[in-house]
Amino acid sequence: MKNESPIPAPLPEEEDDFLASVCAGLRQQPKSIPPKYFYDAHGSHLFDLICTTPEYYPTRTETEILERHGAEMAEMIGASSTLIELGSGSATKTPLLLRHLADDAVYLPIDICEPHLLQSTQRLQTLFPALKMHPLCSDYHQLPAHAIKHHAGRRQVVFFPGSTIGNCTPEEAVQLLKTIADLVGPNGGLLIGVDAKKSTETLNAAYNDAAGHTAAFNLNLLRRMQRELGAQLDAEQFAHHAFYNETHGRIEMHLVSQCRQEIRLNKEAFRFDAGETIHTENSYKYSAEEFKKLARIAGWHLKSTWHDEQALFNVHYLSLSAIEPLKLAR
Ligand code: AVI
Repeated sequence: MKNESPIPAPLPEEEDDFLASVCAGLRQQPKSIPPKYFYDAHGSHLFDLICTTPEYYPTRTETEILERHGAEMAEMIGASSTLIELGSGSATKTPLLLRHLADDAVYLPIDICEPHLLQSTQRLQTLFPALKMHPLCSDYHQLPAHAIKHHAGRRQVVFFPGSTIGNCTPEEAVQLLKTIADLVGPNGGLLIGVDAKKSTETLNAAYNDAAGHTAAFNLNLLRRMQRELGAQLDAEQFAHHAFYNETHGRIEMHLVSQCRQEIRLNKEAFRFDAGETIHTENSYKYSAEEFKKLARIAGWHLKSTWHDEQALFNVHYLSLSAIEPLKLAR
């Protein structure tokens, strides 16, 4: 039956969340919008394009590290383990690890996007028919520890590649590392990719690719606000700006207003001066030593670090126990 009521139907939860987050962020001074809203279907496609650019080194470098050291990583993870991948998406790097795991391993990918999750699990199941796979559709940020069944005698290890942890503030990163610790339990482990500090020139180039994919990715946030929230704005009058902030050890991404203007959204007007920005993303870079200290606050002990020849990127294995990770008997 058609809804004749003048009261608008409630927004689906995610849309509602997007509207509330954008309005709250634009009321703040300085203005900001959380980076998780980059990833609608078009934003995810643009992110995939970023990963193929010559300037954006993290994806190909982490892949190289996994290709070269996957066997040692699997050795640390140990036999009879459950590998839990957070935000698994298309899980392109996962085979580099799964191919070295014992046949009795269990793979548990977690992703918020169900079609993506099922498609990639199916692809992996074809590649590794002997492995048990249990996909879980959920937002891993809000995942309660009891959502993962702890099988007696199995070590739970979280795989969190891509340096996604860099998009959290250091405080949020500690919180997330504590959540992961609760998830895996006292005998658990964490295999995590973390982008390293390096020359400002290399970092600035990675977030300002010549093909313009990063700029399009940043500006897509405004287009998404137009498409999904009916925001009235002139996206042509905003420009992408990304730079390395050495004091904070992070790349900052902003949308810079090119003139005095306003964005109208949900009966509010958000005014901008020329040059005023919306801060859309931080991407923190950590030396191995800095990350070790951060993880220690959350209860983790760094056991091993693998990096590429130029030390652009690190993959760390961490354990909750101070002694060597116990190898569980089959
Ligand atoms: C997903 N995340 C780790 C990327 C990064 O490098 O911080 C997101 C990104 N933003 C611009 N380029 C890539």
